[in-house]
Amino acid sequence: MRSFNTILVTGGAGFIGANFIHYLFSRPDFQGKIINLDVLTYAGNLESLDDIEKTHGGKRYFFERADICDRAAVEAIFAKHAPDAVVHFAAESHVDRSILGPEAFVKTNVMGTFTMLDVARNAWKGREDVLFHHVSTDEVFGSLGETGYFTEKTPYDPRSPYSAAKAGSDHLVMAYSHTFGLPVTLTNCSNNYGPYQFPEKLIPVMILNMVEGKPLPVYGDGRNIRDWLYVEDHNSAVWTVMTKGKPGETYNIGGENEWENIKLLKELMASVARHTGKNLADYEKLITYVKDRPGHDRRYAIDCSKLKKELGWKQSFTFDQGLDRTVAWYLENTKWIEDVRSGAYRDWIKKNYGER
Ligand code: NAD
Ligand code: TYD
Repeated sequence: MRSFNTILVTGGAGFIGANFIHYLFSRPDFQGKIINLDVLTYAGNLESLDDIEKTHGGKRYFFERADICDRAAVEAIFAKHAPDAVVHFAAESHVDRSILGPEAFVKTNVMGTFTMLDVARNAWKGREDVLFHHVSTDEVFGSLGETGYFTEKTPYDPRSPYSAAKAGSDHLVMAYSHTFGLPVTLTNCSNNYGPYQFPEKLIPVMILNMVEGKPLPVYGDGRNIRDWLYVEDHNSAVWTVMTKGKPGETYNIGGENEWENIKLLKELMASVARHTGKNLADYEKLITYVKDRPGHDRRYAIDCSKLKKELGWKQSFTFDQGLDRTVAWYLENTKWIEDVRSGAYRDWIKKNYGER
């Protein structure tokens, strides 16, 4: 089993990265330091790590504001903290935004990943006791029909600017492994849900709109299928691969939990209704079918048997448990929601860290 002294987490102020930092600090088998490298885009929120800053700040946790495309800044962070692992979460992550403005996706996901890889290669100079773990998505494999699953051998077939840019980053990671011998692992995961997810993705949008009595926008016919995994289970899989995975290998991560969007929405309504005490009918009447997303992938489904069989990973949360925790979190954390939505948080960043 591999162990690490100093882990550089990119995108640690985002949804999955912030959950990953919480997860690592809860693990007794990790006693090292975490450096959180994040530029704080609209999706990055340090409030998600307030508790970590209070408990571990300046001792085992350090925040560095930097753009992963800024080579000099990334080199300086490597020189200052000498990480022996990188977990690369930082990315532009929302498909709808990639349709409205693809350029930021190419910059951050492709050029940013290239910069991280190249700086790591130069800093580590052929060391074998280090690891670059790249966090990617199942969307690189394209769209499935009614049957079948993505495996690690499925050919890449990305269809949105988001998934195309992530595919580019995956290829660069594997090229750095093959060509330069950089020790890498790579995971492709299905849709995550849980606390700290920016309210633009399906589950938080729907919870908040239900609570506020706003329309619930269902794209197209509502029958697109996604596989859903609770964020902590994604992070336990990432940690399993980092500590036990074979360098140069890719692993699929999934929830074995497929839902048509409209059916998932009904589950979510039932969970919100249990928490708020309202009638299901109050939420059902909010369902609004809207114009479909251009190029909307129909179905994603993951075969994660390699990860389960070879590395012994399994999920800890059922879908009911995960949804229930997520709904409770969004109902309780009104300040976090207000701050990310109102711009108050952007003002705080400007005051404390300046403009980008
Ligand atoms: P997110 O959008 O919530 O967070 C992204 C983080 O990266 C933010 O904190 C942002 O400030 C930071 N960032 C963006 N551009 C940057 C740059 N140029 N330099 C430094 N930091 C930058 O994303 P997420 O949902 O937490 O996803 C994290 C990773 O997991 C992404 O690589 C994504 O492709 C992958 N992934 C996400 C899902 C999902 O369901 N959300 C599923 C599978 C894989
Ligand atoms: P999303 O959370 O954006 O993740 P991804 O597109 O990366 O899978 O969307 C999940 C599914 O929900 C996808 O099929 C699009 C659909 N969707 C809606 O129907 N309405 C919405 O408001 C959003 C954000 C998504």
